[in-house]
Amino acid sequence: MADPCLTISKQMEAELVEFRRDLHRHPELSLKESRTAARVMEGLEGLGLNIRRRVGGHGIVAELVGSGPGPVIALRADMDALPIQEDTGLPFASERPGVMHACGHDAHTAILLGAARLLAGMRDRLAGRVRFLFQAAEEINEGAKAMIRDGALEGVSEIYGLHNLPTLAAGKVATCSGAMMGSVARIDIRVVGRGGHGAIPEQGIDPIVAASAIVMGLQTAVSREISPFEPAVVTIGSLHAGEANNVIPHEALLSGTVRTFSAGLHERMPAILDRIVGGIAGAYRCRAELTFTSQTPVLENDEGCNRHIEASVDALLGPGARVPAAPTLAGEDFALYLKEIPGCFFWLGSGPEEGAEKAYGLHHPKYTLNERCLSLGVSILAAAAAGRLSGNGGH
Ligand code: NI
Repeated sequence: MADPCLTISKQMEAELVEFRRDLHRHPELSLKESRTAARVMEGLEGLGLNIRRRVGGHGIVAELVGSGPGPVIALRADMDALPIQEDTGLPFASERPGVMHACGHDAHTAILLGAARLLAGMRDRLAGRVRFLFQAAEEINEGAKAMIRDGALEGVSEIYGLHNLPTLAAGKVATCSGAMMGSVARIDIRVVGRGGHGAIPEQGIDPIVAASAIVMGLQTAVSREISPFEPAVVTIGSLHAGEANNVIPHEALLSGTVRTFSAGLHERMPAILDRIVGGIAGAYRCRAELTFTSQTPVLENDEGCNRHIEASVDALLGPGARVPAAPTLAGEDFALYLKEIPGCFFWLGSGPEEGAEKAYGLHHPKYTLNERCLSLGVSILAAAAAGRLSGNGGH
């Protein structure tokens, strides 16, 4: 049976909705979350937590000390918004032109604040500590790295986090053990030729033609070299070369993103791409330099921690509310925490109760979030921490 202590009051729910709407109205881009962090600080006031500010940029680490000794369980939320012009028409839509909470990190922040308040109220029953990580700069894959560098995981035995999912109905949760989200890497390619007159191509070496061949070649070469059972995506998202219509430029610059679903393939990608890019460039008498920047590893949930989340969800809602998480090559820097310590990340349904699959997806200018997911998110995170700090080894 669900523990009544793990359910928030109607009043707290209304406050969290209000809090989330305030953040929604005032979204802040990665590394600029100062107002958001200040609002979180106000929200944490009076809870008796040990607080460190400016951890990993504008991040906040708040720790709740229970009534006895025990492990440290971390719960994490991200706080940043995206460079997107909101088009929802909501009464609390973004007041900042070109910036929008289109990934629902406003809701994640509100949920973690709710969990802090709920758990602070049951401190007497907790053997150990709960560390709340309000993380900055998730969207640019910088925040988790900076948090870890600043010691946010020191002494932590397990970490839990969630992401809302508008294509899953509110009231549902999607979980999985093992790999859940893809690895993310950035590639930058510089193709160097020799500039010249557009009418006399034989006197120059055209980097635009080579760059075009590289864009096409990457698609086929990658798909011929990697098993169709091993997902991999290479997308070239920008290509810049030249200024004038009748001039062959000296160089072309490309950038792209590379996603995989296994650590092994992620490791192999730089060599594969380097060979393809270099070979094609060479065929066109150009020289190419490839820079491969790993951003986040594959997000892999610990089996035991995933079971713990599933048991917590089942105790709160019954097993009918849980579905298996579909794999996605979208990335999430929570994966970096999971490289360090065991933990689990899961999807919290945030869509309409009916026809959620038709809802606008994350990062869409018309993305909206069903606020009914807030109270459930609070309960699951609080249950995950409380279950591990019950003094009897948890579930
Ligand atoms: Ni997100």
